[in-house]
Amino acid sequence: MSGRGNSSTTEDRSKDFRRLLLAWYDANARDLPWRQGHDPYRVWISEIMLQQTRVAAVIEHYHEFLRRFPTVQRLARAHQPSVLAAWSGLGYYRRARMLHAAAKVIAMERGGRFPQSSREWLELPGIGRYTASAIASIAFGEPVAVVDGNVERVLQRFSGQRLSGEQFWKTAEELLDHQRPGDFNQAMMELGAMVCTPRAPGCLMCPVVELCATRGEMPASGKMQRQHKREIHYGLQIRDGHIFLVQRPTDSTLMASMWELPELRRPEKVGPPLLTVRHSITVTDYTVRVWTLNRARNGRGKWFSDSSLSKIPLTGLTRKILRKAGISPAANPQSRN
Ligand code: ADE
Repeated sequence: MSGRGNSSTTEDRSKDFRRLLLAWYDANARDLPWRQGHDPYRVWISEIMLQQTRVAAVIEHYHEFLRRFPTVQRLARAHQPSVLAAWSGLGYYRRARMLHAAAKVIAMERGGRFPQSSREWLELPGIGRYTASAIASIAFGEPVAVVDGNVERVLQRFSGQRLSGEQFWKTAEELLDHQRPGDFNQAMMELGAMVCTPRAPGCLMCPVVELCATRGEMPASGKMQRQHKREIHYGLQIRDGHIFLVQRPTDSTLMASMWELPELRRPEKVGPPLLTVRHSITVTDYTVRVWTLNRARNGRGKWFSDSSLSKIPLTGLTRKILRKAGISPAANPQSRN
């Protein structure tokens, strides 16, 4: 077979792939709030939130974040603690700091004008190749492909080849639909999230199964990360409706300056803990035991009333604990007064 013959076959397969994938996406795309328009501010916020966080958790925070900071100017003018407070529960707080820094660049150095190309987006804090391409394709229709974990899995299975690094990007660019790049990219993510899942892929429902080289026969990844297990302890102290919290060091690499319950190195295990929660951060699964503290404890911390809890940046774990203890900072700050 001639070289030309081969390449036209590959191109035909890519064309079929685009057509089938987009038709499937048009009929099945989840109705997600950031898919309702092409406003770059909204697309940008959603893509930063989605970087390390599940769609369901992002939806919970997305509306509230936009209510508090409806424009890039409002975000740029905000004080960092209130941005971190609005981010509370999403984790990976470096994203919020970068988002805030980028908002200042857009509002103050660019006169409120958003970058339009992926190249320009890349110059802003917190924007890598994936995010720059996602925003430029979804908000501005730039024909650039995206590759994240979901897309890698789709490409790997579809091509039947062990791809790595730049090969993923090249394969994604070859498949990309240049008429609807934003929809195509979101369709690839959607297929990876909903059908071409890591375990037990739903090949029976897959719109491109006829074109797929492996039809689910290829393992999603050669290496599975092993989760570590750890037990940690915190103390909960409530006095006159006030809760005692400590602030994390400002130079901490994780969740710097955020507020949390005091950690207990050696809890006095008299009786059972007040409550236990499970919490996973990257490769560690924590069993978190919370103990009631009766003795006054002051040290570096501060006492906060229930109603002030929604105004300070709490770590996600602290929120989870307080919610389980019946103190719900986000839902209804006044509920215990
Ligand atoms: N993950 C990253 N970006 C996304 C998007 N726009 N829709 C759904 N999942 C995503």
